[in-house]
Amino acid sequence: MDSVSPLKLPLQSPLPSPLLVVPRYPRMASLPVLLPCLLLLLAASPALSTNPEGEALHAWRTRLTDPTNVLQSWDPTLVNPCTWFHVTCDSQNRVIRLDLGNSNISGSIGPELGGLERLQYLELYRNNFQGKIPAELGNLKSLISMDLYGNQLQGEIPKSFAKLKSLRFLRLNNNRLSGSIPRELVFLSNLKVLDLSNNDLCGTIPIDGPFANFPLQSFDNNSRLNGPELQGLVPYDIGC
Ligand SMILES: *[C@@H]1O[C@H](CO)[C@@H](O)[C@H](O)[C@H]1NC(C)=O
Ligand SMILES: *[C@@H]1O[C@H](CO)[C@@H](O)[C@H](O)[C@H]1NC(C)=O
Repeated sequence: MDSVSPLKLPLQSPLPSPLLVVPRYPRMASLPVLLPCLLLLLAASPALSTNPEGEALHAWRTRLTDPTNVLQSWDPTLVNPCTWFHVTCDSQNRVIRLDLGNSNISGSIGPELGGLERLQYLELYRNNFQGKIPAELGNLKSLISMDLYGNQLQGEIPKSFAKLKSLRFLRLNNNRLSGSIPRELVFLSNLKVLDLSNNDLCGTIPIDGPFANFPLQSFDNNSRLNGPELQGLVPYDIGC
């Protein structure tokens, strides 16, 4: 029986098969060739060496003010963010929920969140988030619910939200959002609940797609918002 040879190393490691071909080379020559390859592979492969979702969340956290230490458990040295409080993962350790409602957090909503590609629930309601809603949130193609109500968000509702094809609940009420309601939202065929009340929106209210079913209260207290559009008669951004 062979004594323990360093050449067994690649066979025992969880590396992809191309490297397993290497032992066909003459024994002494192969190891010096193999080791640099192995190191390169370890450094280059995100699956083996990095945790992009934890890094994205932690990068965002460093810019937030968290007076009640709600984010204290967000330890970036852990292998993934799945044990952090207020973060929920699926069985493959991908983030599917962020539950930070009523947490007294201030700062802006990070564009990094748009990289959480399996996120289903983004719950950031009743905090002190300021600034604009990042267009990157439109990349959350698994999102079912986005609750950003009760903050101090400004600027327009991103047109990129038209890509949120799974979205069922969108509550942006009680902020300072301005501009018109993006017409692209009429294509969100799964949208069941929309609340845009208590903002500073202008123009008219769409009537197509899911908008046919939303009550007028969803648009209440936007002093510059006119009523539902009259199809073909009035430009929708009138008064903006
Ligand atoms: C938020 O801050 C207020 C006042 O500083 C405090 O009364 C309240 O308990 C805080 N909420 C949370 C969830 O910590
Ligand atoms: C609109 O504002 C009034 C007065 O502040 C308030 O009573 C009402 O509840 C608001 N409507 C909605 C839908 O929030």
